Amino acid sequence: MLTEDIKVSLLKDLDRIGQADAPELEALRVALLGKNGSITAVLKSLGGMAPDARKEAGAEVNQIKAMITEALTARKALLDEAALNARLAAERIDVTQPTRPDIAGAIHPISRTMEELAAIFGAMGFEIKEGPDIENDWNNFSALNIPAHHPARAMMDTFYLNAGAGSRPVLRTHTSPVQVRTMLAQEPPIRIIVPGRTFRADHDATHSPMFHQTEGLVIGKNITLGHLKGCLIDFLRAFFDAPDLPVRFRASYFPFTEPSMEVDIGWNRKTGEIGKGGDWLEILGSGMVHPNVLANCGIDPREYQGFAFGVGIERITMLKHGIADLRLFYESDVRWLRHYGFSALAPAMLHEGF
Ligand code: DAH
Repeated sequence: MLTEDIKVSLLKDLDRIGQADAPELEALRVALLGKNGSITAVLKSLGGMAPDARKEAGAEVNQIKAMITEALTARKALLDEAALNARLAAERIDVTQPTRPDIAGAIHPISRTMEELAAIFGAMGFEIKEGPDIENDWNNFSALNIPAHHPARAMMDTFYLNAGAGSRPVLRTHTSPVQVRTMLAQEPPIRIIVPGRTFRADHDATHSPMFHQTEGLVIGKNITLGHLKGCLIDFLRAFFDAPDLPVRFRASYFPFTEPSMEVDIGWNRKTGEIGKGGDWLEILGSGMVHPNVLANCGIDPREYQGFAFGVGIERITMLKHGIADLRLFYESDVRWLRHYGFSALAPAMLHEGF
């Protein structure tokens, strides 16, 4: 039999275990079960007892020891979990936290213009198409009515790639090959724009070996020059945010259109102001899709016709925002981007005007 004193004291210890913090718990464990702990002492004292008494006291003390051990383990598990939760809470990374303002980026003006084009042409029911930067000769030239040895090939300083015998891929010199890809892949009616990268061996303040264009293509049964004009006038007025922007269509030549037209907008040559001043500025190429191109792409030119256009994205971006040197677009200078860039939180939306 254990004395009542010892039992009461051990039960009190059980109580304290239930309240203890981590250091207290460890102190209690040592005080009870350690080498010089009180339960250890009781266990040791069993040896001096008479066999019957020892048996009874032994059973009791082991029962109490089991209770204490269980209480210590349970309390420890609870404290460990609480400590872990506290650590997880303290070390949590808030992924929704805004980045520090001094390293905030901005939407690049080229991307912004692409978004604006998507918004304007999207509102007119155009889809966005993309094509590969590396094209075959047929898509980039032949299908577009630019046969081998045609002088029009010399108009574009093409980057040719080395490939196996017989094939000579190019870095696409314009987005026009996506006209071909689209006509081969889907039936008319077709109404697409193709924003993307293009490449020519050319480098100065207004030319970069890599630049961007948007192609436009509309194919249908009764598409006329009137549609071309209406569409491009609406586009240019929306893009330059100038409802009365003067637009002029001037006869020109492209192999893939007939008739072909260059499109000019009114501006002031001296001040650079768009829409005023009585001068004309060439802005894009366009025309009615050449019957040969339709036929090359499996579309019957007696049944369908359409119009196409090609716009230089850098060019219209420079004009709209007064950017003088095109090379700055690609220098990744954050100070430049901070000045000319756009907030990601204010996306290009047509109804608000650009
Ligand atoms: N592909 C021409 C270029 O890069 C631009 C162009 C002109 C595209 C007239 C067209 C078009 O679709 O009809 O210079």
